[in-house]
Amino acid sequence: MLTDMLTEMEENRSIFENAIRKLDTPVCAAFLDGGRIQPVAFDLVGEELESPDSEKIRVSFPKTLGQSKSRVIYGSGPLQEPPRGKRVAVLFSGGPAAGGHNVIVGLRRVLGEGNTLLGVQGGPGGLIEGKLFEITLDRIGGILNTGGFDFLGTDRTKIKTREQFEAVRQVSRENRLDAIVVVGGDDSNTNAAVLAEYLFDDGVQVIGVPKTIDGDLQWGKLLPISFGFDTATKIYSEMTGNILQDTPSSRKYWHFVKIMGRAASQVALEVALQSKPAVCLISEEVAERQMSLAQVVESISQTVVKRARRGINHGCVIIPEGLIEFVPEVRGLIADLDEVFATHGEEMESMTIEQKRIFSVRHITAEHAQLFASFPAYIEEMLLLERDSHGNLQVSQIPTEKLLIDLVAGRVRELDKSLSFKTQSHFLGYEGRCGAPTVFDASYTYNLGLIAGSLILAGKTGYIAAFTDFDKGGKVLALPLTGLLHVERRQGKDELVIEKALVKTDSPAFLYFAGRREAWGAEDLFASPGPRQMWGPTARQVPVSVALNQGYADLEYKL
Ligand code: FBP
Repeated sequence: MLTDMLTEMEENRSIFENAIRKLDTPVCAAFLDGGRIQPVAFDLVGEELESPDSEKIRVSFPKTLGQSKSRVIYGSGPLQEPPRGKRVAVLFSGGPAAGGHNVIVGLRRVLGEGNTLLGVQGGPGGLIEGKLFEITLDRIGGILNTGGFDFLGTDRTKIKTREQFEAVRQVSRENRLDAIVVVGGDDSNTNAAVLAEYLFDDGVQVIGVPKTIDGDLQWGKLLPISFGFDTATKIYSEMTGNILQDTPSSRKYWHFVKIMGRAASQVALEVALQSKPAVCLISEEVAERQMSLAQVVESISQTVVKRARRGINHGCVIIPEGLIEFVPEVRGLIADLDEVFATHGEEMESMTIEQKRIFSVRHITAEHAQLFASFPAYIEEMLLLERDSHGNLQVSQIPTEKLLIDLVAGRVRELDKSLSFKTQSHFLGYEGRCGAPTVFDASYTYNLGLIAGSLILAGKTGYIAAFTDFDKGGKVLALPLTGLLHVERRQGKDELVIEKALVKTDSPAFLYFAGRREAWGAEDLFASPGPRQMWGPTARQVPVSVALNQGYADLEYKL
């Protein structure tokens, strides 16, 4: 009966979910021995990663740096006689991203029956508390190609105090761990670098895996993108394409779409490359050109007015989530507020929002206080939200799209009183993080799992797994985590952290966008990329920005 069939679809067993579990996941030939999975060795030593802060890194990471010499290592053929009896723990850290489950599947398979894989529940916080369970081979079939991080859960704990490091050491001893795999973004992999150093003498290896929808964990040709970016941007592009398709149909709205991605505008740029809206702001360009908020507003307003004069009373503005942090005058204000939080955090914890506002205003410069007071209350409140444990402002909570609507509406009125300017606001964020992984993300993560497991079996520590050459069968490599570090001001202190990969305004992806945006602003040239496909003509499409920046000849994932 239909009702029985519908009930059977509960608990992630929809027709779609059942079908994607059976999807073929493309595997790099380096891991295939006939039909079997085999680990690879890393005997090929490549280029050195140089950081401007190498002296500080040398002092803080003598052990891992001593071993890696900050050099990239490459897969060099099958690993002969891989060790047995290793006990490996894996955890997710930070926000979810599509494909995380396939990292686990890849890891479990490459470790083989001779080694044990343990899952850590609830991220780094769960590691500190010792929440581990065994992941047996028979459990992974159910999670293959599924979205989300629900198999383990995740959190944003930063392992920073002496007690926390000691707790991890204790948990490693109690569980006889030989290795820990940290699946995370830039901050989580900073955590992995520090842990690798701390646990070096205990013989516990630590390996990172590049995860984040934000796409801000990249390293040129050596680490083209983090996993989760492709799925999230395809979901956002589909939704943006649908919104764009609505605009010339209803012919009355300007849609302001804020898109997740934290500080970097990588996600916004990718969505723009796929959907071609009238306006897409790129935070990094705003900062580079020292554009004030008034200038940003002016540029959008001018497009609105120009289009109206051509009879087009609609359009779409894409706004990167972190824009507000890049407007120079606001950046200074946020840095000033960050210092207040870093110095008086405990004191402020028990304060009401109004008390926090009065307190903060007293501790920042007069110029910043004036700017702060010029914002509507809904922005003020969000700027006063507690920073996350890594010291990041919670930009996902700041309604920049609403602020811009208010400011642009005012300016458009000044420019042309007769113009009707109706708006809608959107925030595309959480809906893109946990969708079922695209074919690219499913395969990429599975291979990352195979790489992480191989690194462990090859005895490596302090590396991040990487996979490149998506246009020609894939290449297996690993980057020393210490080579990615640089000094940044966090929570009132200078800290060694992994540098966020922001959009470069001289990159091929940005330059292509910059060359087309005027035309997209002048008339409707948008395109609807459609839903992400697991089968069909776009199933094997890599992100446009990745293809442009890596110099690929087309968009096809060739594995
Ligand atoms: P990660 O950097 O941990 O991958 O987080 C990604 C992200 O989705 C950001 O784009 C967003 O700003 C943030 O998480 C939201 O955080 P939260 O899940 O804590 O609301």
